This record gives sequence, C-alpha cells and structure tokens, in this order.
Amino acid sequence: MNQHQTNRHWWQEGIIYQIYPRSFQDSNNDGIGDIQGILQRLDYLNDLGISAIWLSPIYPSPMADFGYDIADYQNIDPLFGTLNDFDTLVAAVHSRGLKLILDFVPNHTSDQHPWFLESRSSRDNPKRDWYLWQDKRSDESVPNNWLSAFGGSAWEWDELTQQYYYHAFLKEQPDLNWRNPDVQKAMLNVMRFWLDKGVDGFRVDVMWHLIKDIQLRDNPVNPDYQPHMATYDQLLPLYSTDQPEVHDLVRQMRQVLDSYPDRMMVGEIYLPIQQLVTYYGIDGNEAHLPFNFQLLLLPWEARPIATAIDQYETALPAGGWPNWVLGNHDQPRITSRVGKEQAWVAAMLLLTLRGTPTLYYGDEIGMRDVPIPFDEVQDPQGLNMPDKNLSRDPERTPMQWNENLNAGFTEGKPWLRLARDVVRENVRHQQEDTYSMLSFYKRLIKLRQQEPSLMVGDYIPVHADTQLIAYIRQFDTDSRFLIVLNLSHRPGFFKAKDSSLKGVVEIATTPEWEGNPVGSTIGLRGDEGILVRLDD
Ligand code: NOJ
Repeated sequence: MNQHQTNRHWWQEGIIYQIYPRSFQDSNNDGIGDIQGILQRLDYLNDLGISAIWLSPIYPSPMADFGYDIADYQNIDPLFGTLNDFDTLVAAVHSRGLKLILDFVPNHTSDQHPWFLESRSSRDNPKRDWYLWQDKRSDESVPNNWLSAFGGSAWEWDELTQQYYYHAFLKEQPDLNWRNPDVQKAMLNVMRFWLDKGVDGFRVDVMWHLIKDIQLRDNPVNPDYQPHMATYDQLLPLYSTDQPEVHDLVRQMRQVLDSYPDRMMVGEIYLPIQQLVTYYGIDGNEAHLPFNFQLLLLPWEARPIATAIDQYETALPAGGWPNWVLGNHDQPRITSRVGKEQAWVAAMLLLTLRGTPTLYYGDEIGMRDVPIPFDEVQDPQGLNMPDKNLSRDPERTPMQWNENLNAGFTEGKPWLRLARDVVRENVRHQQEDTYSMLSFYKRLIKLRQQEPSLMVGDYIPVHADTQLIAYIRQFDTDSRFLIVLNLSHRPGFFKAKDSSLKGVVEIATTPEWEGNPVGSTIGLRGDEGILVRLDD
C-alpha cells in the first residue's frame, strides 16, 4: 500500500509516453520519423498531458533490429538527425516542463560496433573478452542448447577465429560480456554521456538478460510449449537470464544515476511478479521501476486482472513504486487485443491504477495493428518465424495525425504502410470530437494529474467477479474515487458491501453517465467503465 511519501518524484507522479521514433513524425520526407519531427509534435504531447517521453533507440545503427543493434552509443543515427538536434530536443522538452528518457541497450551491441569488429578480429585482441566467445563442443556442436529470441540457436560460428559467439537476439546483436570490468566501465560511461546532456533517465533494454550462467548450463525444456509460440519458448531460460549477479550490475547503474539529481531508470523485464520485484533491489537500490507488463500479458478478463493487481500490490517491496503498461513496440496494440470498446475500459484502468502509467504512441487514438503484407514485412522476428504471425510491424506503423497524405506522417514513402482508415481515425479528427478516445484520454490524464487520490493515493480493492473490477483510490483527506469497470460485453451489476457508498460519476466511457449520482448498487452496460467521485 501507499507509503504516503511527502517528497515524491516526477516519475512517480507523472505519465510516460513511448515514442517509436521511426514512426512518430517525419520532417525530411524520407519516410522515417526523426528528431525534428518529434520537435514539431511536442505541443501535442504537452496538450495530451503526459509528463515524460521515452524514445526508442535513436543511435547509429545498421537497423537489423531497428535501432536495438547499436553501432555507436554516443551519437545519433543520421536517419534521426544529429547530436545538435538532440540537444535542441532536450531543451525543448525541458522548456515545456517535460522529461526525456532514452533507451539504453546494454546487453548487446551491433555486430558493426567497433568493439565487436575488434573482438572478432583475432582471439588475442584486447576486446576479445568483451563478448561471449566459446569453443565448439568435442562433438563439433554448439556450446549449449540456448536459443535466440528471434529463432534458431543463440550461437553463431565465426570462421575466422574458429569460435562461437553468443547472441540472445539476432546474430547481428552479439551479447556483451558484462563480467568484464572494462565493459562495465565503458557502458556506465555511456550513461554518463547522456546524463551530462541532460536526459532524465533510461529505459534499460532486456535488463534481466545481462548476465548468463558462468558454466553455460543447458536450459531445461519448457513443458508448456505450444507450436504457435516463438521457437525460443521451447526452453525455459533458466540459465541464460535472471542470474543473481545481474543485481550487482543494476546497482552500479543506479549509482551512476544517483550521482545526478532526480534521474530514473525503468527496466525492461519479462518475469513473474515475485522475480520481477527483486529488481527494485534492497531498500530500493536498483531499478526505480521494473516494468510491470501484466496488463499486456494476461487474458483480458476481470478476475485474473484483479487478482494480478492484488498480487502485484502485495509483492511490492516497502517503498517500491508500482507501474503499469498497456502497450509497447513489441506487443500487439491494446485496441487490437481487446477490441475497440474494451480499449476505453483499458484506458480507464491504466490511468486510475496506482503507479506510473506508460502509454504507447497512438494508443490514445485507438490505433490498431495494421496488417502488413508478407512482402512488406520488415521486423526480423516476423521474417525469421514467418508462419507464427509474430511480426511486430503491425504495432509500429506511422502515427495517424490527420487526413492528409500518409496521415500527415510523411510526404515521402512511409517505411511501413498505414492503416486503411486513417482519414477517419486520426488525431485531428479526434481533437474536434468531445466524445473521441483522444478526448477521453485527455480527461482521464487531466483528472489523474490534478487529484492526489488518483495520482498517488492508495489502491483499495472493492470487488471483482467474472465481469467487473471495482476499486477505490484514496489519499489522506482528499476526494476519494470509486472506479467500476466492466471487462465483459454484457451488462454487469456492482453492489458495494458498504451500503452508504455514494457519489457522482465524473468520467465514463458512456458520457451520458457523467454528472449523475450513483449509490452502492450500480448497473453497467457491457464494455462500460465509470469513475465516481465519492461523497465525503
Ligand atoms: C527488447 C526490445 O524492446 C525489442 O524491440 C528488441 O528487439 C530486443 N530488446 C532486442 O534488443
């Protein structure tokens, strides 16, 4: 439950908005979004009411994994602009009272990074040990059974030096050897470089991958594997991820951040709750926020979600601040996953739970996954496992700004095609409509940011059944709010145990509700959610 801290941080009070820079706004008509484009859209973000922008990688990269394969940690890829553009962006973001979070990708570099080029040049190169090199086994086979997240073995044979190197992702993304102190030093200096430029924090890519079992033991078979899953899921990554020593590294990163005022890091970690919360560290000395992906991964059903919220709240260490995510560049969009109607309920859930919400660009206008024809697929995950429908392109399509050519994203040829209905489904259209999803998001954000109970108050579960979730948010003597959400398509009835509960609906998915008094028994239509300001 809430600690009622008095000096809260911006990353606790605020809302994070993820921009996938390739797809946000193109300023030079090469079909790919860029920093100047983001600058043009800052007013939109300000108006939306978010507090911090997280940019997916903008560093020089051969783009084998669209920027998650970095060839130079201390520069900007010309596709996105220059270091000068970046400085301008930092200043512009800050002048609007917003924060800027960069993606930090410490687990692997590009195979074109000078460190790897050196490392692979000979066995006795000083950088050889910066990566994970291994001999073949005596029977000529790969060092162990570990799999790449993007398909196939995680080991790639190097002809020149006659050894294998390890890559948890593409072979173009060799894993760094974080047991090597020089690697640690170099990467912590990368953090300092950007912190010195004024960035407010980092989203740390695959934080739980950084250290691997020193004995390289085989991973066990996953008994729950189903053929539709990624081939990676055939094994349980017991020895290739989440090793105890990773926490020492996260602590080191934290120390770097703590040597600057009020910076933060949010770790990308896909682990069950009990393991996830260990990344807060002891007395909170690791990640400020280990990303909580439960809303992305659970079936969209009231009971499992209510249970997961309770489990998460209970598992949080003392002082550990919660967070919630509905979408990112690796997962199907929320509107596609739960449907258009439930996407409204999902928005209300995300923005009324206790803990920092992260929004994915375009979700605020209900953007959907765009079907990308086979011959236009770009994502390596889609290309490598073509029969599994795992491409992440559909959730990475250009932002739908207006009814102009390519929805105002570019006048060139967009790197990914846009949705067919962009003329109707776009920001401009929704800005003019009080009843649009964008207007709904804005009102929820505004209320959350203005009411301490919603922003930082306690989460008090009230009710859950197969259809509904209900909870109260409450901070000190401020107004209390009751949220009742119907996650089903059928009418549902809420009956509070406390029969004196009453208040006035302040925001609802069906606006006709708003301003109406409600008592302790409430009937909701299918797909409906209401936020009630409770009487004192
Ligand atoms: C996690 C990122 O979110 C994903 O997009 C990327 O492909 C992998 N890490 C590898 O860097």
